[in-house]
Amino acid sequence: MRLLPSKKVAGEIAVPPDKSISHRALMMCSMCSGVSVVHNLLESEDTLRTFRIISELGGGFNGDFDRLEISQASWEASSGPLYCGNSGTTARLMAGVLAGKRGTHILFGDESLSVRPMRRVIAPLKEMGARISARQEDSLLPMCIAGGELNGCDHSLSVASAQVKSAILLAGIQAEGVTTVTEPHCSRDHTERLLQSMGARISVNEKRVEVERSELLPVRFSIPGDISSAAFLIALAVLHENGKLTIRNVGLNGGRTGFLRLLISMGADIELEVEESSPEPVGTIVARPSRLRGVEVGSALIPSMIDELPLIALAGAFAEGTTTVRGAGELRKKESDRISVTVQNFRRIGVEIHEYEDGFSIEGPQRIMGGKVDSYGDHRIAMLFSIAGLLSEKGVEITNTEAVGVSFPGFFETLEEVCR
Ligand code: S3P
Repeated sequence: MRLLPSKKVAGEIAVPPDKSISHRALMMCSMCSGVSVVHNLLESEDTLRTFRIISELGGGFNGDFDRLEISQASWEASSGPLYCGNSGTTARLMAGVLAGKRGTHILFGDESLSVRPMRRVIAPLKEMGARISARQEDSLLPMCIAGGELNGCDHSLSVASAQVKSAILLAGIQAEGVTTVTEPHCSRDHTERLLQSMGARISVNEKRVEVERSELLPVRFSIPGDISSAAFLIALAVLHENGKLTIRNVGLNGGRTGFLRLLISMGADIELEVEESSPEPVGTIVARPSRLRGVEVGSALIPSMIDELPLIALAGAFAEGTTTVRGAGELRKKESDRISVTVQNFRRIGVEIHEYEDGFSIEGPQRIMGGKVDSYGDHRIAMLFSIAGLLSEKGVEITNTEAVGVSFPGFFETLEEVCR
């Protein structure tokens, strides 16, 4: 796919529903007795993995992703290994769900997911009593889970991770006694919010969350647009010299808006209006062309912008002065090694960028000349360099762009709609 410089960016758009919340809604509504009704679920490659796995285990789904009725799954024995595709959220959160269910299940994934770290969920779930074994001394998929009786435990995470925290909490609501999770920095809290609205016994005290065995109650809610998908369009509107975009019905959970707050601190003209606050803050974002200043990002801010960090390199290329991201070693463990892939691809399109073990730094302003890059099958890298192409002098050619279907089906159609 070749993305050519665009003259103007304008429009009022909606982005696809939130991926993180969609996974959780599918899993958690399948764990409660009674019928939940969820509107506006994301229908993408990743969330379809979760949907198909639960269907295979006796899921009770009725309707489509615009309006899905979800009843308790029977959690029957699987007839074969369960495929998580590219989806870390599916593999890690399902491990927590299945740890508390009788039966033996095997989770496996694609080439990228098969090299992503799993010990971080396997170790705490084993401590709670689940019998789990996995490749390379319990560190990689495939993993085999023999679930059943669990006991609550006190867990302290060395790295902030909503996926690990959520896996433990989903096991914790099925365990005897109290389960606690403490993180070094706060990660996104969608699981906690949904547990609260489903009547679970949960208490949250900043970085520490505590749950007890709970019967979940059915819920009715609508999933907002995904701020991580919106981030690409916001960056386009801010960095383009002739752009204005309005994005409606987008999730504005504080655990996810770090990138917006960072852009604003760099000088970006972004207006946020929260229109609803429960169970998740939702609102409108208006983004306009802006002159940016370089900024330093350290570890405390990383979890609230974890999926947007590569976009900061793009903003840094346009900003006056130095932009530095450190303390972001987790980026190397995503769908690709996002530090290495971001740095390599920027160099291929004529941008100078310095690589650190735990981040990068970039001096701006620089012009993006253009050239050929590879997404390495990573949806967010494909979208980042598409935006870079629209902002470049000569255009950017990207291989493996079909990866965008993992989180943002219709991404290129949306770009066509807003670019003139
Ligand atoms: C996610 C949490 C983040 C994020 C991922 C989705 C989630 O991962 O990178 O895209 O849905 O909980 P970690 O919290 O493990 O860093």
